[in-house]
Amino acid sequence: MTVCQQSSKESLAAGDPAVADAIRREVERLEYTLELIPSENLVSRAVLEALGSVLTIKYAEGYPKKRYYGGCECVDEVEELAIERLKRLFGAEHVNVQPHSGSQANMAAYLAVLKPGDTILGMQLSHGGHLTHGAPVNFTGRLFNVVAYGVDPTTERLDYDVIREIARKSRPKMIVAGATAYARDIDFRAFRSIADEVGACLMADIAHPAGLVAAGLHSSPVPYAHFVTSTTHKTLRGPRGGLVMCTAEMAKALDKTVFPGIQGGPLMHVIAAKAVAFHEAARPSFRTYCAAIIDNCRALAATLQRRGHRIVTGGTDTHLFLVDLVDTNLTGKEAEEALGRAGITVNKNTVPRETRSPFVTSGIRMGTPYVTSRGMAATEMATIGGWIADVLDRPNDTDRQVEIRRQVRKLCERFPAYV
Ligand SMILES: Cc1ncc(COP(=O)(O)O)c(C=O)c1O
Repeated sequence: MTVCQQSSKESLAAGDPAVADAIRREVERLEYTLELIPSENLVSRAVLEALGSVLTIKYAEGYPKKRYYGGCECVDEVEELAIERLKRLFGAEHVNVQPHSGSQANMAAYLAVLKPGDTILGMQLSHGGHLTHGAPVNFTGRLFNVVAYGVDPTTERLDYDVIREIARKSRPKMIVAGATAYARDIDFRAFRSIADEVGACLMADIAHPAGLVAAGLHSSPVPYAHFVTSTTHKTLRGPRGGLVMCTAEMAKALDKTVFPGIQGGPLMHVIAAKAVAFHEAARPSFRTYCAAIIDNCRALAATLQRRGHRIVTGGTDTHLFLVDLVDTNLTGKEAEEALGRAGITVNKNTVPRETRSPFVTSGIRMGTPYVTSRGMAATEMATIGGWIADVLDRPNDTDRQVEIRRQVRKLCERFPAYV
């Protein structure tokens, strides 16, 4: 047997125990702690299988039946399945399933219609927007003239009249609707009317609520936006990756921008896993699942409210919410660390009336896609909310954190993820 044949058959554990061990410990972490980061989700074994398949080997620059490489007949079939399933799931005129990530999906949509120096209008980062919506450190901030809108200081919700005023004054070429930390539904029809008034294109980034949109439980931007971008790994429950949907009119410009504009060969194993996830999201049980995510999120937020914590906007319509810690003497960073010691994973996040840096923050963001995928429901949300409130009330009480961590493990054992 040659060295090459040997290495192609060697298991990960035998060939690279260091990486194998880190993966084994990550499985343990996911299995026995509570994952409340709203951008993460438990994916099906079928998605994992597709991701770990030999499709990672194939170079397939181009699009189905129009490739720059031979031997693409199997991957063509996979990409065509992903395209057709995605179009059906959202009722889109045209889709591109090749973006490697949400950020690249956004880059593709921008560069399909904009030139450097053009003005974009997006949601301010500290109010819930994403880095790719115009942050100075991001390519968007470096390439474009960025104007931002925020949320109303009283309601903490989008105020479409104010956004219209900002758009009238700044005359953007692209308006970005969508966010990374906004717990309320978004009026995409209002955004389109603003875009039409000022002659802008509308891009809706539904990276977070995509699954809820597919399930019909969150407004859909597809009838209104010229481009709809998303990640595939959050509520949509697929592999890490991105996608763009657009009107037929924008199809050519979009496809040319993804390849050869900003990417090379598509990740065919990831596209296969996206196809699997789109298939799963079309099942009636996915709607039931998404409804349970929202119910759980409301139950968790309500438990924290009952324990005296302030939820930004007073609640949630989605899979996530923000806890505002401004009036406590706890920072988001300290809260994240204290909850981590108790086996509960959340992320620190800026809140609308933020005064601290993004590395410290005055809030935490949490969501329920992962715990809902494990089968947890209202009773468990009340228990988890109680534990979170205990930790936030006494962040230095490490004995209580150790005790909660033990109880978290017991709860997780009742709702297995993969083990
Ligand atoms: C609204 C929004 N857009 C884009 C992205 C970027 O996705 P990715 O991390 O895959 O580049 C995110 C990720 O958190 C997001 O929340």
